[in-house]
Amino acid sequence: MTQVRYNIPFNRPALVGNELKYLAKAVRMGHISGDGFYTLQCHDFLERKLGVPKALLTTSCTHALELAAVLLDLKEGDEVIVPAFSFVSTANAFALRGARPVFADIRPDTLNLDEAKISKLITPKTRVIVLVHYAGVGCEMDRIMEIAYRQNVDVIEDNAHGLFGKYRGRFLGTFGCLATQSFHETKNITCGEGGALLINDPRFIERAEVIREKGTNRTRFFRGEADKYSWVDLGSSYLPSDMLSAFLFAQFEAHAQIQATRQRIWKYYYRELADWANANGVRLPVVPEHCDQAYHMFYLLLPSFQKRQHFISHLKERRILSVFHYVPLHTSKMGRHYGGTPGDCPVAEMMSERLVRLPFYNELSEVEQSRVIDTIRELTL
Ligand SMILES: Cc1ncc(COP(=O)(O)O)c(C=O)c1O
Repeated sequence: MTQVRYNIPFNRPALVGNELKYLAKAVRMGHISGDGFYTLQCHDFLERKLGVPKALLTTSCTHALELAAVLLDLKEGDEVIVPAFSFVSTANAFALRGARPVFADIRPDTLNLDEAKISKLITPKTRVIVLVHYAGVGCEMDRIMEIAYRQNVDVIEDNAHGLFGKYRGRFLGTFGCLATQSFHETKNITCGEGGALLINDPRFIERAEVIREKGTNRTRFFRGEADKYSWVDLGSSYLPSDMLSAFLFAQFEAHAQIQATRQRIWKYYYRELADWANANGVRLPVVPEHCDQAYHMFYLLLPSFQKRQHFISHLKERRILSVFHYVPLHTSKMGRHYGGTPGDCPVAEMMSERLVRLPFYNELSEVEQSRVIDTIRELTL
């Protein structure tokens, strides 16, 4: 198979400030394993900026979700409600503990977990509702938190897309008892692979530190709060090297500039594609008035699967990479193993066939973006 060389990739990582300087400094400081100077700086940044009681960096959002599943003691027989339109980790992290994912359909406007579909999925075995703020646009948190409170189930926000987004003026990631972030290369702020657990319920802080450090109380030991450390609970190794944290902290420092750049790129796509979309039956993203989005991605909803595939091929011929997103979880091999059946979540299935994401990265130049837009406008669907 010959590989296409794209002139405009879907994503391109970039240095935005002091990444290399801080990396070198981390090495010179003689501490490149976990929880060094830069990791603590990152924790401090997230806690202050978002106003969360505790933030812990992890090696990925996937690992933050796994840590959350251990922390909430999920086990065989428990049920976890997850949106059918999400990345595998949203469900897999809980399935690893033996819990059964129960798939909920999404809203046709924001593609977020449909709050109206949650109640009828709740059973006496339901322990958690996991939600995703798709594309960094908030779920209907007022309603979801009310349902969770009434039914006595926990809420975990998989906020992989939504860092700095807000719902009714409040940061995404601050609603559930726990929330998870991703700093994977495709995210607004990155260190290649990385993540964080945000702990909004302080009761979980001490145990989260233990689980993240191989089930030991080493974090307390390093703080001088214990005279030795040993195996005290279940755990794994979820903390990143301080070299990754050094890279990440430089990106945090530049977050205002990154967000402003992404806002400009998003708005340019939206403005320049509006007429073409209207004329071709294509839907642009919906951002409700009460949501400040995180400007994580720009997607289009094409009228059909065939037209979506034609769109991707057209851009590919001009060496521009556009990509589809999630295969619905409930129709995947594992989803079917857990009882998912095609037809269960029709909105997720339809959106999965019709959605395409456009090139979107911090260094996407105006010339490149105009080329993407012109290439799209050549198309009559
Ligand atoms: C909604 C969602 N959750 C979790 C993840 C996994 O993130 P990570 O690659 O940091 O493990 C992704 C990946 O993009 C995602 O889209």
